[in-house]
Amino acid sequence: EKGTYPHFMLKEIDEQPFVIRKIIQEYKNENDEIKLDLDIRQAMKNCDRIYIIAAGTSYHAGLLGKQFIEKLANIPVEVHVASEFSYNMPLLSEKPLFLFISQSGETADSRSVLVQIKELGHPALTLTNVPGSTLSREANYTMHLHAGPEIAVASTKAYTAQMAVLAILAVDTARAKGLELEFDPMQELGIAANAMEALTDQKEELEELAREYLPTTRNCFFIGRSVDHYVGLEGSLKLKEISYIQAEGFAGGELKHGTIALIEDGTPVIALATQENVNYSIRGNVQEVEARGANSLIISMKGLDKEGDAFVIPHVHHLLTPLVSVIPLQLISYYAALHRDCDVDKPRNLAKSVTVE
Ligand code: F6R
Repeated sequence: EKGTYPHFMLKEIDEQPFVIRKIIQEYKNENDEIKLDLDIRQAMKNCDRIYIIAAGTSYHAGLLGKQFIEKLANIPVEVHVASEFSYNMPLLSEKPLFLFISQSGETADSRSVLVQIKELGHPALTLTNVPGSTLSREANYTMHLHAGPEIAVASTKAYTAQMAVLAILAVDTARAKGLELEFDPMQELGIAANAMEALTDQKEELEELAREYLPTTRNCFFIGRSVDHYVGLEGSLKLKEISYIQAEGFAGGELKHGTIALIEDGTPVIALATQENVNYSIRGNVQEVEARGANSLIISMKGLDKEGDAFVIPHVHHLLTPLVSVIPLQLISYYAALHRDCDVDKPRNLAKSVTVE
């Protein structure tokens, strides 16, 4: 039920802080420790490499999952687009663990990888929003995203839920391996949830930005470095799927290796600047595109913001900025689509779950 909301997508965007709080509750025991199936903990601890398999938005969450697992739990991770994996199977390590990320749990491309790796006898863990789904039933283990039903075709709350669950999984694994961590995921996710909630109250500002930057444009670029790059990929997917504006996400340093040729007077470039270690470089990239006439819109984080930034998100832990910085991108996409009279919840040519390969 949409209730008072005009679209499921807007409702689901607003639900995100509550989903994160629900995840914190669901993955915590009475002693405030992480609550996780012991078999999953063991499988994570025992593997020597993790292969993340996903598609679309879930693939973008997987890119961040790699950061969490490598940085916190010290296990090498590869992230693969499901549809490419079957015929380009990488050389597998001795003790691989496959991690399927899927909102619906029904994506055919992911399922065919699951069938393939099961034949080889490798273990699989599925992160899904639908526990009884095919990918959940056929994997050895399941972690539930607890996002509640996601109805809008464009995925929003499942994406932030995936990142939150991946962060918890990475920390649990680190602790199981006896690694010392300063990062308290439940506390930091709680802070992120508050920041997300604050942003969902800034809709008017974001609608204005969509009106100002994306009124008639045919295309739009997203740039960012490090994790901001991944959020830019997700922002560009959201924008193109619901507003039909051609959008592309790039690593900040990559645009100038070719695509900068497309920048003309007024081309919108949305830049994310939430990471201290790359703040200087990404701002340099913004200057490069501005010098070619780009209409740049910088989304930065409090503490790293500079005069002229179009939008500033609250300060959160640097690993968790994607959960927060994606919200202005989701809302800008939503309003851009609305301004173009697009069918926000049911974009053309798309289905909620892609059950063909
Ligand atoms: C984008 C979107 C798709 C899905 C992709 C994978 O908004 O919804 O890109 O993320 O089709 O779907 P799941 O996660 O159900 O496997």
